Amino acid sequence: MTLFANKKGLIVGVANDHSIAWAIAEQIMAGGGECGFTHLPDRPDDTRQRNRHRVALLLEGNPAAKFLVPLDVTKDEDIKTVMAKAKDEFGQIDFLLHSVAYAPMEDLKGETINTSREGFKMAMDISAYSLIAVASGAQEIFAERASVLTMTYYGGEKAVPGYNVMGICKAALDASVRYLAYDLGPKGVRVNALSAGPLRTLAGRGAGVDDMLKLYEHMAPLARNITHEEVGKSGAFLLSEMSDGITGEILHIDGGYNAMGSPGRLLDKVQM
Ligand SMILES: NC(=O)c1ccc[n+]([C@@H]2O[C@H](COP(=O)([O-])OP(=O)(O)OC[C@H]3O[C@@H](n4cnc5c(N)ncnc54)[C@H](O)[C@@H]3O)[C@@H](O)[C@H]2O)c1
Repeated sequence: MTLFANKKGLIVGVANDHSIAWAIAEQIMAGGGECGFTHLPDRPDDTRQRNRHRVALLLEGNPAAKFLVPLDVTKDEDIKTVMAKAKDEFGQIDFLLHSVAYAPMEDLKGETINTSREGFKMAMDISAYSLIAVASGAQEIFAERASVLTMTYYGGEKAVPGYNVMGICKAALDASVRYLAYDLGPKGVRVNALSAGPLRTLAGRGAGVDDMLKLYEHMAPLARNITHEEVGKSGAFLLSEMSDGITGEILHIDGGYNAMGSPGRLLDKVQM
């Protein structure tokens, strides 16, 4: 497959082999693309550099993985350093994947009404503003028809109990996609989001994915959950020229769950 022949770009958000960003990067590299990766910086007292190590192991021996650098999306100087590295290595980038989210566990687990001011600010900064920050940082190095993709969830469109403050972040992220699409459109740069159904990942576990997996199996038209590989393929589609002409879009990859207006087959399981 040569969908990404001569294409180069940045992958932000791989924590381990379960990360959605990794599923998308695998498809891109299988299609001939070259990727630069970032990892969450390790704490200075972590002498084993566990965050870096986990991602480095995945990239080992893969000639399509061109570099691995630390990035905390709340730090403007980190973003600058990453973009400078991408410019050095690639000149310009054809794709930018943003697959990052975080909220303090006590705010994520508590009811939305009890969200702390500090927790809200941190969640918004990392999970929503960071898309604007990295897209802005990459402005100079975007190739003419570059594509930007972020990962979102249905909890930003409708109230999904348990998703709480992260739902508010996703609503802001979805709106950012539309406004960034407008700003970058004249330069030929597209900005989209992929709205994935539940998947077992680090972040997914924090957001209560296990209960959601059962719900989706019963309610989604496809009567099953989606796979990492499927998200990888849709992500690669939106980051490739195959999706030229699509921008400002939230594409759902959720087995059709979002199309339902009633619990559907789940009603068969419930005694009224
Ligand atoms: N897993 C799901 O069910 C699901 C569904 C829909 C959307 N998403 C979204 O997909 C994206 C990726 O999540 P995932 O499920 O692959 O989990 P993940 O834990 O593998 O990925 C989250 C990434 O965010 C990074 N991150 C957190 N804080 C950061 C910071 N300050 N600076 C830089 N990076 C930081 C982590 O290091 C990690 O790589 C998130 O936006 C998540 O909300 C996940």
